[in-house]
Amino acid sequence: MSKIFVDACLGKETPYTPVWMMRQAGRYLPEYMAVRAEAGNFLNLCHNPKKAAEVTLQPLDIVGVDAAILFSDILVIPDEMGMDLEFIKGFGPKFNDPLKSQTDLDKLIGGEEAASKLTYVYETIELLREQLDARSDDKALIGFTGAPWTLATYMIEGQGTKTYNICKKMMYSNPELLHNILAKVTEVVKFYMEKQIEAGIDVVQIFDSWASAIEPSMYDEFSWSYMVEIANYLKEKHPNVPIIMFPKGIPAFYDKVYGNFDVFGVDWGTPMSLAKEKLGDKYVLQGNMEPCRLYSKEATTKCVEKIQETMGGKRHIFNLGHGILPDVPVENAIHFVDECHRVSGKK
Ligand code: CP3
Repeated sequence: MSKIFVDACLGKETPYTPVWMMRQAGRYLPEYMAVRAEAGNFLNLCHNPKKAAEVTLQPLDIVGVDAAILFSDILVIPDEMGMDLEFIKGFGPKFNDPLKSQTDLDKLIGGEEAASKLTYVYETIELLREQLDARSDDKALIGFTGAPWTLATYMIEGQGTKTYNICKKMMYSNPELLHNILAKVTEVVKFYMEKQIEAGIDVVQIFDSWASAIEPSMYDEFSWSYMVEIANYLKEKHPNVPIIMFPKGIPAFYDKVYGNFDVFGVDWGTPMSLAKEKLGDKYVLQGNMEPCRLYSKEATTKCVEKIQETMGGKRHIFNLGHGILPDVPVENAIHFVDECHRVSGKK
């Protein structure tokens, strides 16, 4: 049986439009908070395949989405390259020794050696493969990575940033070092995603959450070209595994989008009609409800109907235009999923 979500990614006609939500396994679910408490903290949860698999599946049963996304984090990659990752409560991710020089970069583990250390991720995927195959509802499993640029922002700044000034100082005053960092991360990500595919994921998503920090004329050079390098590598080895690219906030780059991938993730700041006009013939589009609409069922319904009107149930996957926030009522998330199914004709 083919999976409706995979079919939709490949642009095939499906009986209804599938839906999932970025960050769907997380703090808005009391069931997630209970498992995280058992694990002790967020990173312990990522490192525990049994518990990570459990929280991955929660949104399928509680919210009714059509695909599960592997529970992990993009920052486990630099962690296993040798940067010491911490998640600080109320603050977020932190690397205590951010990259400042070629010498710092040379100390990091690269390539397949780094990717081979992420065994807990592959074990989580293997468990999920077994559990999903044993179900009768044929839901897909999405694996993911951060784009090299988004990962590099954390590796260089050491934490989240509003201005990206340290990365951008490097971009304009020492571009060679930034390219060396991006190239090293790209090599690890290629092996990492290949191993995720071999462990059993159905679809790949590449999150470039901080794409919009780069000015449009520099975006290809410092981010998109590396994402395409990863996509081309995976497509050559596994042509049937769909790839979703999610570069957040770059509509000014839409005329220049290229590459061998299947689905383009549209963020909430971009009108779906613009994305359809520019990219809809070439790629399936995913998105793009503004996540804060989830605070109101009425606002959710309005937006879902509008997106459906624009996309017409063709070459489209419903999603939010970025991640769901922790204080969204679960019943509103369920309402979103139900409405996507209703307007697209799920019986
Ligand atoms: O449900 C899913 O989408 C799968 C799990 C997932 C997580 N992080 C779990 C998580 C995924 C796909 C990610 C990706 C991720 N991680 C991104 C790209 C996606 C995006 O939202 O743009 C980024 C930028 C990160 C880095 C990261 N991880 C930050 C900045 C933070 C702290 C901010 C926050 O939201 O708390 C995290 C922590 C994190 N990753 C949590 C979860 C569920 C919260 C941890 C907790 O307290 O339980």
